[in-house]
Amino acid sequence: MPPVLTAAEIDHAARLLRFGRLVAFPTETVYGLGANALDAEAVGRIFAVKGRPNTSPVIVHVASIEMAQKLAAWPETADRLAKKFWPGPLTLVLPLGGVGGRGRPPLRGPGLAVAAPRAIPLIVTAGLPTVGLRMPAHPVALALIRAAAVPVAAPSANRFTELSPTTAEHVRRSLGNDVDYILDGGPCQVGIESTVLSLAEPRPVIYRPGGVSRHELESLIGPIAIAAAPAAGAHPAPGMHARHYSPRTRLLLVKDGELPMEGKGIYLKHTHPAVHVSVETIQMPTEASAYAAALYDALYRVDEGDFDWIAVDAPPDGPEWEAVDDRLRRAATTED
Ligand code: TXA
Ligand code: MG
Repeated sequence: MPPVLTAAEIDHAARLLRFGRLVAFPTETVYGLGANALDAEAVGRIFAVKGRPNTSPVIVHVASIEMAQKLAAWPETADRLAKKFWPGPLTLVLPLGGVGGRGRPPLRGPGLAVAAPRAIPLIVTAGLPTVGLRMPAHPVALALIRAAAVPVAAPSANRFTELSPTTAEHVRRSLGNDVDYILDGGPCQVGIESTVLSLAEPRPVIYRPGGVSRHELESLIGPIAIAAAPAAGAHPAPGMHARHYSPRTRLLLVKDGELPMEGKGIYLKHTHPAVHVSVETIQMPTEASAYAAALYDALYRVDEGDFDWIAVDAPPDGPEWEAVDDRLRRAATTED
C-alpha cells in the first residue's frame, strides 16, 4: 500500500518549489528531483546535486496539455500522442516556443509565473532549441505541479550515472540531505524511465526507449526512427551517454546461466528455471512490464551486498522488452 500523503504535505512541497528549493517526488516511472522550471537558479541546483554535466537537458513536467502548449510548439502529432498517452510515461521533445517562448527573461514569484507567459531558461534545455515535456501519471506528481502552478523540471532523483530511484528510500540513499524535501508516494509502478520521443526533427525519433513501447507509438503515428548510439569516443548526444542507469556492482549480461567462475557473484535469473547454479539468485518476473517494475529495486539490493559481479539473463527478443534491454545494455557497458 502506498503511503497516504496529505494535502498539507503537497502544499508544503509546492511552496518549497516556488521558493526555489528542490523536492523529490514520485512519478509512475521513477522518482524525480524537481525544481521550478522557470527558475534558472533552482534548476542549477539540480545539476549541482546530481553532479550532472550541463550538456544534459532536463525534462519539464506539466499537469495538462494546456500547460505544455504554453511552453513549446504544439504540432498536430503532439496533440494526438498526448491525448492518447498523457498522463503517462512519454516525453515529447518539441521546439521551444508556445505562448511566450524563449526570448523573455524567466519570471519570478508565484503570482507572476501563473498569470504571465512562460519562458524556459537555457539551463533546462542545455541550450538546445527544444524542450522535453511530460505529463506524469501519478496523482502526487500531478497534485504537486498543480499546487505549485509552475512547470516542474525534474531528472531522475539520483546522482549522475547511478540507478534511477523507484522508492523514496532509494532517493534518500542516493541524495541524502542534498534534497530539501521528499514526497513518499510508495514504489513506482512502471519502474523504468519514460520514452523520449522527438517531434522536432523531420521524422519522429526515439532518443530513449521507455514506458511506452515503439510499437504502441507507431500504431498511432506511423514509422519512428531510433537514434543511433553514439560512436565510441564521440561526445554523446543529449541523454545518449552509454554508461547510465548503472549499479555500482559490475553487471554482466549472460546466456543460459553461463556465470563467471571467479569472484563472489549474484544471478538475476529470468527465464531459465531449469538452470541450477551455486550462487545466490534473484528470480525476476517473466513478463516484461513486471520485470521493468522490479529491476531497479533488485539492482539497488545487489549494490547493498558485497558482490564482485551481477550476472543478468539477457532479456528475450520482442518489442515489449526494448526498454529493459536498453537499460541492461547501458548498465553492462564500461564506457562513458
Ligand atoms: O521517466 C522519466 O522520464 C523520469 C521522471 C522523473 O519523469 N525523468 C528522467 O529524467 O528520466 P532524466 O533527466 O534522468 O532523463 C531525461 C532524458 C535524457 O535522456 C535527456 O537527454 C532527454 O530526456 N531530454 C530531455 N530534454 C531533451 C531535449 N530537449 N532534447 C533531447 N533530449 C532531451
Ligand atoms: Mg536519469
